[in-house]
Amino acid sequence: MPEDYVEEEERPRKAHPQAHRNGRYEESRYTAAAERSRGRPAPSRTSSYEQEQEIYEDQTEDGSDQEEGEGSVYSDAPAEEEDEEEEEEEEEEKEEDYPTDPLVIEELEKFQATFRGFEKRFRLINKIGEGTFSSVYKAEDLLYDRYDNSWDIDEVNTRRTGPRPPKYVAIKKIYVTSSPARIQNELELLHDLSGCRSVVPLITAFRHQDQVVAILPYFQHVDFREYFRSLTTNDMVAYFRSLFSALSHVHRHKIIHRDIKPTNFLYDYHKRRGVLCDFGLAEREGTDSSRCMCTYYANDRKERLPAIPTALTPGYPKNDSRPARRANRAGTRGFRAPEVLFKCTAQTTKIDIWSAGVILLTILSKRFPFFNSSDDVDAVIEIATIFGKTRMRNCAALHGCVFDTTIPTIGDKGFTLEKIILWATNRTSGTKDDVPVVLSRGEQLAIQFLQRCFDLDPFRRISADEALRHPFLRYCEDSEEEDPDLSMGLPV
Ligand SMILES: Nc1ncnc2c1ncn2[C@@H]1O[C@H](COP(=O)(O)OP(=O)(O)OP(=O)(O)O)[C@@H](O)[C@H]1O
Ligand SMILES: [Mg+2]
Repeated sequence: MPEDYVEEEERPRKAHPQAHRNGRYEESRYTAAAERSRGRPAPSRTSSYEQEQEIYEDQTEDGSDQEEGEGSVYSDAPAEEEDEEEEEEEEEEKEEDYPTDPLVIEELEKFQATFRGFEKRFRLINKIGEGTFSSVYKAEDLLYDRYDNSWDIDEVNTRRTGPRPPKYVAIKKIYVTSSPARIQNELELLHDLSGCRSVVPLITAFRHQDQVVAILPYFQHVDFREYFRSLTTNDMVAYFRSLFSALSHVHRHKIIHRDIKPTNFLYDYHKRRGVLCDFGLAEREGTDSSRCMCTYYANDRKERLPAIPTALTPGYPKNDSRPARRANRAGTRGFRAPEVLFKCTAQTTKIDIWSAGVILLTILSKRFPFFNSSDDVDAVIEIATIFGKTRMRNCAALHGCVFDTTIPTIGDKGFTLEKIILWATNRTSGTKDDVPVVLSRGEQLAIQFLQRCFDLDPFRRISADEALRHPFLRYCEDSEEEDPDLSMGLPV
């Protein structure tokens, strides 16, 4: 398996109800007011992860890490937003939040013991995620008020009269099997992306021997499987406005996320707020890239392409003399863009747009997972079933590949996305006498938008910034027109 190949699978989140408290919260609580009255500035935890990539014991609290101008990124938040924040209900901790599984309890204790003094800073609550590269724990941040928290946009914009409710963090314990370069890359990119409401901010990170943990704010979210079938058009607009705001921010930094999928977009269905997380596979555009056929002008490309035989014999060549092609294929099955499957060596941020399109198709078709291939060849076939042979041949040729198939169900023309969605939602019987189904204006716009996300040519595919201006993401179902104040989504 090439080094750059990483395949992930969807994993359901585990919940472990029942209480398990250590009761240290009250003992260790500090308030900002108390700190200020002692005349000590709150130290920064956000200035540089390198400085904060502390071996835990080395931490200083003199605030000297703070970069100039830090915190100003949030200062232009509109006044309405502030009021909205004020009204937001704080999350309440419930007894069900605590683990019952003895193995999880043991894991939490073991993890806590890794870092000296950990329990003075955090009160571990439960394990909330287990991915391919990490375990994620929820904890209460006991020393929140001791530090500069300018990353905390909600708190900065909240006018509080009563006491501050507890602050929660997600502690991402990156598996020691991850290469140091990969860990450094994730932390570095998170640090570079700070300052956007829709991208998870990195609070700090620390290391003990080979164990690295990233401390992120905890975001309340609802499992995608619980709500994706019941989303209204307005809900969809809110979801994708939030997701594309995050993508716009990430792509403006010329960063490719590479793993856009529902479990990496923590969406609070009730508050209509989403945050993009998991930059474990992310990379800067252009890293390890080399010239692909798709970067040539169409005419030049034609000249360079090998002649395609008119009558292909079915099967694989016995002795394939073609040189092996290497390209980054990291990502999750079912969400990979066609250019990733065709091993394009000059992949761009547009691969994330395709994956976001797969989420929209999932919601519109009410089927999850929508694509369910076991490998990349199957994945190409799944895409070809929708788009047809002709367009897939062109798509392959764009990256210097040849596509053909003898599978009889794959036609030359494929199907429209509208047809696919109607079939998937049982709104057509497929007979000639069908009364044509009239799609709502919202659905029509969603399908037009989806077509733009699913352009097989990445250069023509819609960008995140264009997407935010698309009529679908400006639509308000109730007034049947553009949402006048665009209040459903979240600005970058
Ligand atoms: N800041 C956060 N707030 C709340 N939950 C979080 C947060 N970060 C991560 N999680 C939970 O932990 C899960 C795994 O986190 P993440 O995706 O960062 O790790 P991963 O090891 O790369 O996972 P995977 O391989 O499944 O993509 C998320 O799907 C989410 O449920
Ligand atoms: Mg993940």
